[in-house]
Amino acid sequence: MIEAKRDGHSLDPVELKESISAYTTGRVPDYQMAAFLMAVYFRGLNEAETGALMRAMRDSGDVLRFPKDPRPLVDKHSTGGIGDKVSLPLAPLLACLGFRVPMISGRGLGITGGTLDKLDSIPGFQSLPATERIVEIVQAVGCVICGQTASMVPADKELYALRDATATVPSIPLIVASILSKKLAESLEALVLTVKFGVAAFMPTLERAHELAQALVALANESGVKTRALLTDMHTPLGRSAGNWLEVRESVECLESRGPKDLRELVLACAAHLLVQTGKAKSLDGAFQQAGECLDSGRPRKKWNEMLAAQGADLAAFERKLPLDHTAPVVVELKAESSGFVSRCDARLIGEVVRDLGGGRFTKESSINYDVGVDALVKPGEAIQSGGVLTRIHATDGAQAEAACARLEMAFEISAQPPVVNPLIAGTI
Ligand code: URA
Repeated sequence: MIEAKRDGHSLDPVELKESISAYTTGRVPDYQMAAFLMAVYFRGLNEAETGALMRAMRDSGDVLRFPKDPRPLVDKHSTGGIGDKVSLPLAPLLACLGFRVPMISGRGLGITGGTLDKLDSIPGFQSLPATERIVEIVQAVGCVICGQTASMVPADKELYALRDATATVPSIPLIVASILSKKLAESLEALVLTVKFGVAAFMPTLERAHELAQALVALANESGVKTRALLTDMHTPLGRSAGNWLEVRESVECLESRGPKDLRELVLACAAHLLVQTGKAKSLDGAFQQAGECLDSGRPRKKWNEMLAAQGADLAAFERKLPLDHTAPVVVELKAESSGFVSRCDARLIGEVVRDLGGGRFTKESSINYDVGVDALVKPGEAIQSGGVLTRIHATDGAQAEAACARLEMAFEISAQPPVVNPLIAGTI
């Protein structure tokens, strides 16, 4: 297989499946798999090969099995970004719209935040229930947000670690097989993807994001999961906060209909597409309205607490923590030096600063400080007065806060004229 791919030939799907199984069971050494991945990186995989790889990975461990139930099984996946907390309000909203949501999520690495790290900032929250418990919670509550168990998609864990160490992560067929192997192990009927483009995204340009989204949508649909992808802008963070606990707080604001507009827009868009994909709504406009009314009814906010309780959270401690202005020891404000309009709020720089404050990981083993980050971010197009607050920095001590403040000055640009603001959702596939 290494030779065949090196020389640009296509692979036999059966052989590919056997090789993945041999690798996962320790019969193929890392050095051969690493060479194979590099051959794939340069030569690519065709659709049949990508599908075979994805199925081999999905079938390397447990696939979630659910009892028969009229509520469709749905989920959402994001390719990751700064301040991207959509999953948190979306899961309980979807449960209230009559779906079952077995949301298996990941941790952050590098500048990209991870849903599980955000949830781990909630007192008592258990992010790693056993497979049977995941099914139980989904059946009883309607939604769960948790990590992959050791027995789910083990091939992806091994292959991803090897790709990370061999510079073979940015390969579209490998990314597609990796993402979909995990989502298809949830036995879904429908899936919505947000594929990001921009300075802080995996895919820097709209064109590359489009290519990735098309490959994901084609393979997922061919595998029987009704799938759509939203191409979303990641030049600027989503919402007004980045940092684990600060993002949980903002997600609760969204569930209480008082969060930032862009977060609400993306949450409702994901829900609306799933309503249409599963035939629960006839038109996208009607679906948006249905999702908006449901969010504003307050039921998803209650469902959120129900989900937290099912996952072991201490609700009293959580509710006591929510109204606090900050939980990090130090908060400083970064102020604008001139008046005008915000023309840049750089998600990459903000992500790097939050990671360096202790809110993200350099390696998989790094521990996280849940309380640090930024909030009150101003966004492109908004007017600002000289001396107005561009953002607040939550840090562990004054020196760290001042260093972050100096770096963040570079993240903002103020212009005399209002800038052209790009739409959050650039397209749907
Ligand atoms: N996310 C994944 O789950 N896998 C990849 O390969 C890239 C991003």
